Amino acid sequence: MSGSLSITSAIVDPALLDLPWNRPLDTWPQENIAALPKGISRHLVRFVYLSGYVIAIKETSPELARREYEMLRTLQRMDVPCVDPIAVITNRTDDDGEPLEAVLITRHLKFSLPYRALYSQTLRPDTATRLIDALAVLLVRLHMIGFFWGDVSLSNTLFRRDAGAFSAYLVDAETGKLYDGLSNGQRENDLEIARVNIAGELLDLAAGGRTDEALDPMAVSDGIVAAYRTLWTELTGSESFASSERWRINKRVERLNDLGFDIEELAIKTDDSGTRVRIQPKVVDAGHHSRRLLRLTGLDSQENQARRLLNDLDSYAATFHRGEADEEMVAHEWLATVFEPVVRAIPRELKGRLEPAEMFHQMLEHRWYLSQNESRDVPLAEAVGSYIDNILRHRRDEATIIGPPTGTFTGPTDVLDEDDWRSKV
Ligand SMILES: Nc1ncnc2c1ncn2[C@@H]1O[C@H](COP(=O)(O)OP(=O)(O)O)[C@@H](O)[C@H]1O
Ligand SMILES: [Mg+2]
Repeated sequence: MSGSLSITSAIVDPALLDLPWNRPLDTWPQENIAALPKGISRHLVRFVYLSGYVIAIKETSPELARREYEMLRTLQRMDVPCVDPIAVITNRTDDDGEPLEAVLITRHLKFSLPYRALYSQTLRPDTATRLIDALAVLLVRLHMIGFFWGDVSLSNTLFRRDAGAFSAYLVDAETGKLYDGLSNGQRENDLEIARVNIAGELLDLAAGGRTDEALDPMAVSDGIVAAYRTLWTELTGSESFASSERWRINKRVERLNDLGFDIEELAIKTDDSGTRVRIQPKVVDAGHHSRRLLRLTGLDSQENQARRLLNDLDSYAATFHRGEADEEMVAHEWLATVFEPVVRAIPRELKGRLEPAEMFHQMLEHRWYLSQNESRDVPLAEAVGSYIDNILRHRRDEATIIGPPTGTFTGPTDVLDEDDWRSKV
């Protein structure tokens, strides 16, 4: 390799240095490349195997790479769901000393899928609506911290399954800007960009025969506006009611919690006569259930998965401890006697099919379905066995998927190691 590479990275994985940086990304040998589904992009993005995990490499200008790297780091620090930046590499040259483009390296987000790879035949209206709802939640969260995205689209978002719904992650921060707070005009601007981009993406799918006949691209893309506004109002709007209706304060808090948000502050004001109360939630933060589950069990999951797991945990507590025992203690017991045995029962070759929390959720659904069908309480062990044989075996791997989203799957699917690469360096 001629010249000297310049690598900016919080922690450098030495394996990065072995990659063929002296060649343009589009000529990298096939053995380095992970054929995973990818969204549509301006720049060349390719997935590459490193020791035990996959990275996404984007060729772009040094300025843009650095800017996006810093932005993603900031967003990560603010707990926004987005891809994890690993490094920026500049000063690349080929063997003749000719300059090559800079790259931004992010970690491939495990179990995430671009919207085009989320379904196998045609996109159905209800799936599309769930995608839009997830994107609306992400956009609201971004706007609450003052982030103007500038290029909201399905292609710039990754989706993870979340107990029947989806959760959305920001993947492309290139056009984003952080402000102290956004004006209504800025928010509306982003929302309009979202609507137009989504309409274009869905029309494009429709033109390729990849959408269900019942799907109306305009109606679905308009849906982002409605979903966003409802959520925004619920999270930030003030409410006024008679003092005699003070229970509404708790109701509001509960509603926000149900939506997955926590309130850091609730401003409560009474008018001079003391007959009316006005409340205004101040700072709200998403991930209420996943934080509770993490605190109690150490399990890291998506919001709806956490809600399902907590339901199971709470009913376990009610059944075996009549809700009297210490919450932490019961959680520990539930983890050891319910959750972990289920996950351990999954055969090794099937472990990459879905995230453990998603499997557990699906198994609970399956058990409910079996019990309904057979009008009896199906024991956990039986439900797990039936779930593995009748459901899980027939799914494709989602830890990382190999092959085109709609084609047949070639070659062995690679299940990534749970170990975080950072713990190895
Ligand atoms: N870390 C990552 N994990 C998974 N997919 C990624 C990652 N980074 C990029 N991609 C995929 O590559 C596509 C293009 O990336 P993006 O940053 O949007 O490039 P561009 O700036 O050229 O639009 C995305 O739609 C996504 O599917
Ligand atoms: Mg993009």
